[in-house]
Amino acid sequence: MPELAGLRCLVTGGARGIGREIARAFAREGADVAILDIRIEQACETADELELFGYRALAIAADVSSETEVRNAIEQAERAFGGIDVLVNNAGIIDTAPVVEMSTEMWDRMIAVNLRSVFLCTRAVLPGMTARGFGRIINISSQLGHKGAPNMAHYASAKSAIIGFTRSLAREVCEDGVLVNAICPGAVSTDLGGDIPDDLRARRLAEIPLGRFGHAAEIGPTAVLLAGPGGSFYVGATMNLNGGDVMV
Ligand SMILES: NC(=O)c1ccc[n+]([C@@H]2O[C@H](COP(=O)([O-])OP(=O)(O)OC[C@H]3O[C@@H](n4cnc5c(N)ncnc54)[C@H](O)[C@@H]3O)[C@@H](O)[C@H]2O)c1
Repeated sequence: MPELAGLRCLVTGGARGIGREIARAFAREGADVAILDIRIEQACETADELELFGYRALAIAADVSSETEVRNAIEQAERAFGGIDVLVNNAGIIDTAPVVEMSTEMWDRMIAVNLRSVFLCTRAVLPGMTARGFGRIINISSQLGHKGAPNMAHYASAKSAIIGFTRSLAREVCEDGVLVNAICPGAVSTDLGGDIPDDLRARRLAEIPLGRFGHAAEIGPTAVLLAGPGGSFYVGATMNLNGGDVMV
């Protein structure tokens, strides 16, 4: 019996990168998976690939920072699947600037896409989960939420706040059968950071005891653990998958 048989999952930002690998891992384990992403063509390609595992897959176009788009997208997924049991808040962006040069627009955009989205998507799925007495919410934070990073105060602030949100909501809804946890990946090779200059790459690698960046596929098994029966005693946890970069 696959680990996630019968579960109906929604992964934000599942068109590519870490989200796509989580979506693949879920489908491989028997779950139906809806992908919510602004990159709709890539989301459709990923959904087509997921269907090959033999379960339902769906791509929905939405900007996770928009309250209306999130509400409509989650209603669409709930109608198609009959409910959402597992939400992975994964969609995110990155950019860099020293605080003194950071525009207010840049700050607000980062907080809207990387943090407000987590609140909006979670609030939209919670009534169904609590009514059914079962749910799993997995928030993708970052090791930078623990560690911080120069020129990324807006990103690290959003990722730290996701940890606070996770712990608060976990306490709020665990008695309703909804378990809320976070994954804090270390540096993972995806399209997110674009081309890292060689000197910065070498400096970042030198900080990682394991001596390499992570692969997106290395995040999927932890998401499966938290979504499935093996995750039944995790409440407000932060899972730190980072090659030893931050040991907490
Ligand atoms: N790659 C890393 O090193 C790393 C490390 C720690 C945490 N993370 C986090 O993991 C998550 C995924 O990152 P990734 O590396 O796979 O990035 P990625 O850029 O490969 O994927 C991000 C996905 O989110 C989608 N997205 C972006 N903005 C969106 C919006 N407004 N509405 C809907 N979808 C949107 C993109 O289209 C894309 O499919 C992010 O939250 C990121 O902060 C990444």
